[in-house]
Amino acid sequence: MIYLDNAATSFPKPPMVARAMAGTLNRIGGNPGRAGHRLSLCGGRVIETCREMLAQSFGLPGPEQVIFTANCTEALNIAIRGTLFEGDEVITSHGEHNAVMRVLKGYEQQGQIKVVPLQPDGRGLLSPETLHAAITPKTALCVICHASNVTGVIQPVASLAQVLKAHGIPLLVDAAQTAGILDVSPAALGADMVAMPGHKGLLGPHGTGILLLGQGMFPRPLMAGGTGSQSESMLQPTALPDRYESGTSNLPGIAGLLVGARFAFRHRAEIEAYEAQLAARMREGLSNTPDVRLLGDSEAPKVGVVSFVPKGMDGGSMADSLARQGFAIRAGLHCAPAMHQWLGTLQTGACRASVGIYNTEEEVDLFVQAVGKLMRESIR
Ligand code: ALA
Repeated sequence: MIYLDNAATSFPKPPMVARAMAGTLNRIGGNPGRAGHRLSLCGGRVIETCREMLAQSFGLPGPEQVIFTANCTEALNIAIRGTLFEGDEVITSHGEHNAVMRVLKGYEQQGQIKVVPLQPDGRGLLSPETLHAAITPKTALCVICHASNVTGVIQPVASLAQVLKAHGIPLLVDAAQTAGILDVSPAALGADMVAMPGHKGLLGPHGTGILLLGQGMFPRPLMAGGTGSQSESMLQPTALPDRYESGTSNLPGIAGLLVGARFAFRHRAEIEAYEAQLAARMREGLSNTPDVRLLGDSEAPKVGVVSFVPKGMDGGSMADSLARQGFAIRAGLHCAPAMHQWLGTLQTGACRASVGIYNTEEEVDLFVQAVGKLMRESIR
């Protein structure tokens, strides 16, 4: 198989990820932070080591500002649901995944908030000027997807952040496609909260996500429950990170994330350059393939996500034919209907190929050839 679905989850993982997970399950089977015996203490140490490593890598003053979640969706839900009140307005973009859109639109449908969409320019980029014009006294939050999971286009988040800062409006960044590849530290982005999966660019396993909380950010938690701390109190602890981490932690997942993310941080610059090179090669190959419409402005900065619409053939059939030949891609709407609406592809959907650290130029060339062959066959 040639795996080109790294925007959904990176695969394969560096070999030490599985080793760390198996080692944790086999040797440190206690419930972390819940007891004084060796297995519980060791488990707790793994989790706190990962938290400290992430805090340091993301330039946060304290490890308690790193919150472990089950995925990026949970991190986004904590940040959004925990921040908003009735009557608020939220500014957002056409690039948002349903992990953001469904939360916001659900509140809007109930008449609780107003969602204010930012109009992108012709290249799909957001500007500080349009953001400035969208701000009202009721704006309580701005949520921006750092890079689209459909086009790969990277938004100029830091320049948007300056406008928000001047108005005292918190910025939440969805770094689902950029964590581990670009610098997504709150300081670099100018963000107050950053949500990300552990299982994509950070090379950890499924079931891991992270919410970074900037100074002064204190959203209401989604859940309450046991934390192994302040157990005499029947009320949820207010201290970070326990406020958000009720219930048994995903110890094997976090053990895998620890080594996967360490690897990603150590090689981040090379990973960014390598994936950009593979994606550029794929775009170039597909742009020379007749009757293939590439999505995303050719000049805009992008991550390694390449989507296209094959003319006269539906995306699902193309993906199925490619799957039969051993290529793994994702077709459809990619849980991003607003982006497909903006691109005019809501009816057709698109095929998405997304590269990762283990892909090669040869695989990219084989993929482009396979798409070209299917296109020629569909025209016949
Ligand atoms: N959000 C992931 C994707 O874009 C699953 O495929």
